[in-house]
Amino acid sequence: MDCEQKAAIVTGAGRGLGREIAIELAKRGNNIVIADLNPEEMSETQEMISDVGQSSIAVQTDLRDPTSVTETIDEALDEFGSIDILINNAGIAGPNLPCEEIPIEEWEETIAVNLRGAFLMTREVLPTMKDQRFGRIVNISSVTGKRPVSQRSPYAASKLGLVGFTRSIASEVGEYDINVNAVCPGSVEGPRIERVFERYAEARGTDSETVKQGEMEKSARVELVKPTSVATLVAFLCSPESEQMTGQDLNISAGKVMY
Ligand SMILES: NC(=O)c1ccc[n+]([C@@H]2O[C@H](COP(=O)([O-])OP(=O)(O)OC[C@H]3O[C@@H](n4cnc5c(N)ncnc54)[C@H](O)[C@@H]3O)[C@@H](O)[C@H]2O)c1
Repeated sequence: MDCEQKAAIVTGAGRGLGREIAIELAKRGNNIVIADLNPEEMSETQEMISDVGQSSIAVQTDLRDPTSVTETIDEALDEFGSIDILINNAGIAGPNLPCEEIPIEEWEETIAVNLRGAFLMTREVLPTMKDQRFGRIVNISSVTGKRPVSQRSPYAASKLGLVGFTRSIASEVGEYDINVNAVCPGSVEGPRIERVFERYAEARGTDSETVKQGEMEKSARVELVKPTSVATLVAFLCSPESEQMTGQDLNISAGKVMY
């Protein structure tokens, strides 16, 4: 299921799911552009990519800034000469507040990174992908939004917004052999979710193990999602085996959401 030697940009690949996706794509023979805010974390990802024998560049990118996005695409093209794969992964959690208490700046920040950032990246790569008559774009959405989660409305709106964006762009560019899909993870194992459990535990006057167990019980398989499961699904959507899949939003949630 190799993607062949292609150039893949992964936003937010300094750590977490983005790093996992970048390494999985590298293992399958792709060269990687790591686009993230954090230079130290990007260097660590670069070392891991080098360990699997692929090339990468790390480009400090702020997805809130259209100029920064343009510069990243220019650097990617200078280095690899093409952009075949774009993974819009970077995201922020946004505020955890009732709607009437959300500061407008926090609403706008969440949309700017999670939704507008994906738009800016997509807008910049499409001319190249159209010229090549090939491209694979995967937007990392979430089951949050499909499934209501109270006090997370900016995040939910941004993530369900990505599903609408995915379908719309997929219908615009399918004839160029450019596929656009969304992946919607449930709660993924790792330090980020452990911090969320600790916050919830504090708020509810309980311990984080109890919160974690409760979260797992919301899924059919009674487990959290493994980062590698998300990464292999993303890689599948960039592979020849998924050629006829576009405009889809695929849940990988251990059965937490089935629609
Ligand atoms: N972890 C989960 O349980 C989970 C579940 C569903 C969806 N997701 C989604 O998966 C994606 C990755 O999540 P994660 O858990 O790995 O998060 P994370 O916080 O570990 O990593 C996010 C990365 O995005 C980068 N980033 C943030 N703002 C940026 C900006 N303005 N410009 C460039 N880079 C920026 C950060 O520096 C970081 O490296 C996010 O879109 C998230 O919403 C995560």
